[in-house]
Amino acid sequence: MGDLLLRATGDANMMRDMLVDTVVMISKEMLVIVVMVGIMAYMDWRLTMVSLAILPLLAVAMFQMSARLRAAVRKHRSKEGRMAMLIGSMLQGIAVIQVFGREEYEDERFGAYNRQDLKQGLKTVRLEANLERMAELVIAVGTAGVLWFGVRRVLAGVLTPGDLIVFTHYLRGMYKPLRRISWVTVRLSKATIAAERVFAVLHADDRIKVRKDARPAPRFRGRIHFKHVSFSYRPGLRVLEDITFTVKPGQTVAIVGANGAGKSTLCGLLPRLYDPDEGSITIDGEKISHFTLESLREQIAVVMQHPMLFPGTIRENIAYGKLDATEEEIVTAAKRAGIHDFVSSLPAGYDTPVGERGETLSGGQRQKIAIARAVIKDPAILILDEPTAELDATSAALVNRTLREVAAGKTTLRVGHRLSELKDADLIVVLEAGRITQMGTHEQLVRMPGWYRKVYELQGGAVPPLAEASGDEDEAALGLAGAAENEGCELAAASGSSPRGEGGGS
Ligand SMILES: Nc1ncnc2c1ncn2[C@@H]1O[C@H](COP(=O)(O)OP(=O)(O)OP(=O)(O)O)[C@@H](O)[C@H]1O
Ligand SMILES: [Mg+2]
Repeated sequence: MGDLLLRATGDANMMRDMLVDTVVMISKEMLVIVVMVGIMAYMDWRLTMVSLAILPLLAVAMFQMSARLRAAVRKHRSKEGRMAMLIGSMLQGIAVIQVFGREEYEDERFGAYNRQDLKQGLKTVRLEANLERMAELVIAVGTAGVLWFGVRRVLAGVLTPGDLIVFTHYLRGMYKPLRRISWVTVRLSKATIAAERVFAVLHADDRIKVRKDARPAPRFRGRIHFKHVSFSYRPGLRVLEDITFTVKPGQTVAIVGANGAGKSTLCGLLPRLYDPDEGSITIDGEKISHFTLESLREQIAVVMQHPMLFPGTIRENIAYGKLDATEEEIVTAAKRAGIHDFVSSLPAGYDTPVGERGETLSGGQRQKIAIARAVIKDPAILILDEPTAELDATSAALVNRTLREVAAGKTTLRVGHRLSELKDADLIVVLEAGRITQMGTHEQLVRMPGWYRKVYELQGGAVPPLAEASGDEDEAALGLAGAAENEGCELAAASGSSPRGEGGGS
């Protein structure tokens, strides 16, 4: 984060300054050089050739040293970025630092980073100085050469002493701009690094490839189909493997599984926060990558595990889901999310500012505002990633009722740990370490051995006796409404327990 900020501000400014300065300066100096060389050649072209002989030397030296400088600057900037990141996270986590009594530890860590930053900075400055010294040296050699040949030509009677003095005067006039250009090279080296870093930020979104022929999505009916979807954040580390399931329009699918099983990741694939490495995701039969991002995301509302509020008022945060929302719509959404009474009790009501990252509200209150933000959007598809995780039992019950109401007629993906909350889902998908190991309705899953039955029982749910294992049961477990399309999922039978242990209530 800090690094991104540094890149976006420091590096972008640096780039702009460089570009303007450099273009103006180089063209000016070039002009001076051309004029000087012209006059010198007119006076004595042989001597002029001698004075120009240093140019190739200068070019080679500049080229080599600026490469080294660029490497050093790159390193320095990334050290600075690391510092900015550390400062950012220290400010965010200040309560943790205090509660754990780690002020001194952080102080030292900061000091260590700072020293490294300084060391790398010094290295860069030293290289810069070397580069300039090198230019001076080459220029001195050139001047000496001209003087030597010049004196010989004076002694030979070709040139008068006065001519030589005038010539050396022009020589200085020509070398001065050269010196300046070499100095610009130094700054340019820095600027190219800045450019590199800024472009890297701008292309941070490259995970998803937006097609040029993408078109606006029509209003979705909401049939979602995942087909053999695999995904990894980092190459070689599969987070989701061969995910296949279908949700019919208006149905609710519950996604359950232990911490780290890949539930949130799966949810992120639908609004295309990431694209799958393999397989395809379709809505109403069309690949989601065919739609423009805006039109796709416009119809999907997400309530996330950790609700993110922006600095601004409560009103603004709710209206974020629908920028042109009327006062009435905002209040209605807040009522449906069960937050209206609380907001009204605040002295400033809907104009109460929420602190940076929502710090002035409790976790549950933030979550309800996030729900209101999703409700107001009236989307075709609703993604609820543990929406009740931070709510007390009463609020959870209320919000669950709201969510059921809101979700009516909308295709809903819901993640949760309290299985009793998810019993009504049309389809329950059990994820274990990124794979679907069980799939079916509550009635089906609770009757077969496996993760679902075990965890349901652990959470205090009453489980019926195991069903007789027969071919019929296997069929039933796969399926339910719409399961016919769930090709490739022959995993309905119980599989071993999750290697990561069970998820536990949240
Ligand atoms: N942005 C990310 N970059 C790299 N790895 C990630 C990222 N987000 C999640 N992961 C990894 O992907 C795996 C699945 O994470 P995910 O958040 O989808 O799990 P989850 O099922 O939602 O867990 P929880 O119940 O704790 O919310 C984890 O092993 C996690 O470490
Ligand atoms: Mg999650």
